[in-house]
Amino acid sequence: MTSTAVVIGATGGIGGAIARELKGGGRYDRLVALCRSGNSVDGFEAGTIDVEDEETVQRAAAQVGEADLVIVATGLLHGDGYGPEKTYRSLSEEGLARAFQVNAIGPALVAKHFLPLLRREGRSVFAALSARVGSIADNRLGGWYGYRASKAALNQLIRTLAIEHRRKFPNSLCVALHPGTVDTALSKPFQSNVAEDKLFSAAYAARQLLTVIDGLDPEQTGRIFAWDGQEIEP
Ligand SMILES: NC(=O)c1ccc[n+]([C@@H]2O[C@H](COP(=O)([O-])OP(=O)(O)OC[C@H]3O[C@@H](n4cnc5c(N)ncnc54)[C@H](OP(=O)(O)O)[C@@H]3O)[C@@H](O)[C@H]2O)c1
Repeated sequence: MTSTAVVIGATGGIGGAIARELKGGGRYDRLVALCRSGNSVDGFEAGTIDVEDEETVQRAAAQVGEADLVIVATGLLHGDGYGPEKTYRSLSEEGLARAFQVNAIGPALVAKHFLPLLRREGRSVFAALSARVGSIADNRLGGWYGYRASKAALNQLIRTLAIEHRRKFPNSLCVALHPGTVDTALSKPFQSNVAEDKLFSAAYAARQLLTVIDGLDPEQTGRIFAWDGQEIEP
């Protein structure tokens, strides 16, 4: 039996670090790195995926065939015509649609095509990177409307997918993960107010997230977990 781990968004700060960590760990026989450019990551089988284009998601799933671990590390906070809104005056149809497209609809389509690939016997995991700011219970500061709302939608999608998935895959988990505030291109413009010890390196976040994934029990499917293993209220 060949064990397979898949990283989607392997060109990203956290996705790349997770890929390197998985390779170093040597646990999986087959490593697949998927990204928009199709660029290869050293030691990984390469493939192309654009989470906004279902055809590419379907093709990538056919390439993977079977998997034990799928990590979706794609996401958008700024760029590409979108920026986090400080006030409702900045809301726009295009901006909100963009955030939902990448942060919620994309991972949902990935789940549609990749959940069926997870191994039924033994433990398998589908994990999507979300964010603590997607927690409605935790929202005290406001702002970042599109990003927050799209991550809240992602959390709800993950919960709903998990409920359906566990009926046929009782040993499998479908979870959302918060990596902490991590020094990547995504957080770069917003790092000035972050205390130095609260800004993680991507390598540290990757190690933490993989440790959290390892420690989860199938009973915990559908929930949101932070880098330190703490559960986040939706
Ligand atoms: N960094 C943080 O502080 C932080 C905090 C909380 C949550 N998160 C979450 O963690 C995840 C990873 O963030 P990061 O910090 O690693 O960001 P990043 O370095 O900006 O990486 C984002 C990744 O998403 C990919 N992507 C964007 N749109 C895509 C699409 N349509 N199809 C396929 N790939 C697409 C990018 O691919 P390209 O290279 O092709 O652009 C890139 O690989 C995100 O979900 C983010 O919301 C990050």
